[in-house]
Amino acid sequence: MEPAERFLLDVLAYLQCAMGLLGSLVLGLADSVYGRYTSPGPDLRVPARAAWALQELPSLAVPLWVCARTAAERLHRAPNSILLAMFLVHYAQRSLIFPFLIRGGKPVPLPTFVLASMFCVYNGYLQSRYLSQHAVYADDWVTDPRFLVGFCLWLIGMLVNIHSDHILRNLRKPGETGYKIPRGGLFEYVTAANYFGEVVEWCGYGLASWSVQGWAFAFFTFCILLTRAQRHHQWYLEKFEDYPKFRKIIIPFLF
Ligand SMILES: NC(=O)c1ccc[n+]([C@@H]2O[C@H](COP(=O)([O-])OP(=O)(O)OC[C@H]3O[C@@H](n4cnc5c(N)ncnc54)[C@H](OP(=O)(O)O)[C@@H]3O)[C@@H](O)[C@H]2O)c1
Repeated sequence: MEPAERFLLDVLAYLQCAMGLLGSLVLGLADSVYGRYTSPGPDLRVPARAAWALQELPSLAVPLWVCARTAAERLHRAPNSILLAMFLVHYAQRSLIFPFLIRGGKPVPLPTFVLASMFCVYNGYLQSRYLSQHAVYADDWVTDPRFLVGFCLWLIGMLVNIHSDHILRNLRKPGETGYKIPRGGLFEYVTAANYFGEVVEWCGYGLASWSVQGWAFAFFTFCILLTRAQRHHQWYLEKFEDYPKFRKIIIPFLF
């Protein structure tokens, strides 16, 4: 049973990579499925706060359910429990704090909401089942340079992501729904500083976990957020004549 599930988790990880590429392609072709690009229409939408809280919650709830309902044999190992904690800390912030700080966020189209929720179930299961049941690390993995550098990247990435989302949020006064040029923090260097933080965060997690499952999630995030960042960058250049031309899209000084 165990080798069969281990094989399944590898297949799910490679599928996640394929979903990242496909999602990037679909977003590139039909980007009017989220945020500022949704056109007013009669289609069903979920209010921003409810959408973010509910769609991200499975990434927190599924791992907790997996660990409570199954033996979770490997979680008594420090590397496994730290890595799962890294995943849960992010999603506790994303589903329990981030939604309630949103100011004037656009309602999320129902299909986007459903797809995001399904992805969170999928990824929550993949990461938590792998770490709680299958991942084997040496006892001294927590002092391995890959783990240490990965953990630092994860932490720095998360702080950049949270700080950048905070800057975006504070562009609006209560009740406002329009858009302004973001200033400060890494926005002085890139259009999508919040996405840059998120990509660094999950690359750090991938490095620290040194697993197909961890890297697959980092790759998926990179594919989706790179496409969104390119679209945002183009949008700012078209909308604001005084948009700083030297800003890169997502990676400071590079791209
Ligand atoms: N891991 C993944 O694959 C993944 C995928 C998607 C998102 N995320 C993360 O989820 C978070 C939110 O993502 P998102 O795509 O919604 O980010 P976003 O497009 O940058 O928007 C974030 C929030 O700030 C507002 N906002 C953005 N630019 C603004 C501006 N110039 N002026 C005023 N308000 C502005 C948006 O309002 P509107 O809603 O009105 O546009 C929204 O409420 C980010 O931290 C991102 O990294 C992760």
